[in-house]
Amino acid sequence: MSENGAVFIGTSNHGFAQQAQEEIRRLFGGAVKYQWLVPGEVFLARLEEASWEETVRVVTESEPVFLRHLHPVNGQEAWNGSLESLVEALREKLVRHSAIAAGGERVAVQVRKTEHAAPGVSPSSVKHALDEVLTVKPGIVPVVREAEWIISLFLTEDLIYWGISRPSDNLSDWPGGAVRYRKEEGQVSRAKFKLLEAEQTFGLDFTQYRAALDVGAAPGGWTSLLLERGLDVTAIDPAKLDPGVLKHPKLTYYQKNAGDVKLKPDSFDLLVCDMSWSPRQMMKLIQGLLYSLKPGGTAIITLKLMHGKALQSLREATEDFEPQLSLQKAKQLFHNREELTLFLVKNG
Ligand SMILES: C[S@@+](CC[C@H](N)C(=O)[O-])C[C@H]1O[C@@H](n2cnc3c(N)ncnc32)[C@H](O)[C@@H]1O
Repeated sequence: MSENGAVFIGTSNHGFAQQAQEEIRRLFGGAVKYQWLVPGEVFLARLEEASWEETVRVVTESEPVFLRHLHPVNGQEAWNGSLESLVEALREKLVRHSAIAAGGERVAVQVRKTEHAAPGVSPSSVKHALDEVLTVKPGIVPVVREAEWIISLFLTEDLIYWGISRPSDNLSDWPGGAVRYRKEEGQVSRAKFKLLEAEQTFGLDFTQYRAALDVGAAPGGWTSLLLERGLDVTAIDPAKLDPGVLKHPKLTYYQKNAGDVKLKPDSFDLLVCDMSWSPRQMMKLIQGLLYSLKPGGTAIITLKLMHGKALQSLREATEDFEPQLSLQKAKQLFHNREELTLFLVKNG
């Protein structure tokens, strides 16, 4: 299907696919056609002038902010919505594919579908049925995580789009980039997942840091993660922190507006901020606290996106933070809602 160009399925957070499409258009100079699979979220992209290999190279070198996940479309097959017709349509194509034919690989089948596709067929039943098909090849090990190959399926009412790729080619090795963490007992807030995802996405390891400042910390999800990583944490918020977090011996807590707190210069190597404020106000507040972050220190900051101005908000934030902070990466994480997460480093 993609002999002369690349056909792939792109996914963003709901409501941000147009930004993802615009980013792809900029990367590939405009020669791209889109078709919605799930409006505002999942789309088919046809690049006439780039192969899949070229697409992966460009997208991984200049990673888009809003494109969360992509996978190639090697083929599209008709089906009638039953598991039998799916297996029938894919069996030969999958076992003959070069990634599978030789055997000896760990393979993850990832299945997504539109709201109205095959109500009686669950993604897990599809995975199970295809795992059985694949294991006719010696040494193929069906897995969920840490695969060597991913078979991605996207099901609509009458079509199966399928593609096989390396996990590193998909921007995320989770189905559609939907990162799932297990909620822990007594977890303070879902916001904790956002910082956890940032740590993984930006390739950080918070255990390597010593002291963190958390601006807008309540109820304490981010603070609790940093305390678990062994850091000394200074949390600022006029609102109350969760009692479980408050009793931690490595916590210093200022129950105040962050603009009213005096801190020691160069005392933190990590600054995090998740305030859900208008970007301009948030940036002003952070700029006023940057004296406390050491040169070379890391900042992880969520940037609220003003309606319809996502790319503009990012451009303004990057400009405003220079020359004090250099943007390393901006990404709309799966756990972000109307916001992005920025990874910045303080200039020396
Ligand atoms: C989205 S919540 C933060 C959630 C937190 N990251 C967590 O994991 O639990 C935003 C917080 O910013 C705080 N905030 C708003 N304005 C502030 C200010 N000027 N100084 C400090 N905190 C502020 C709010 O009180 C609120 O608790």
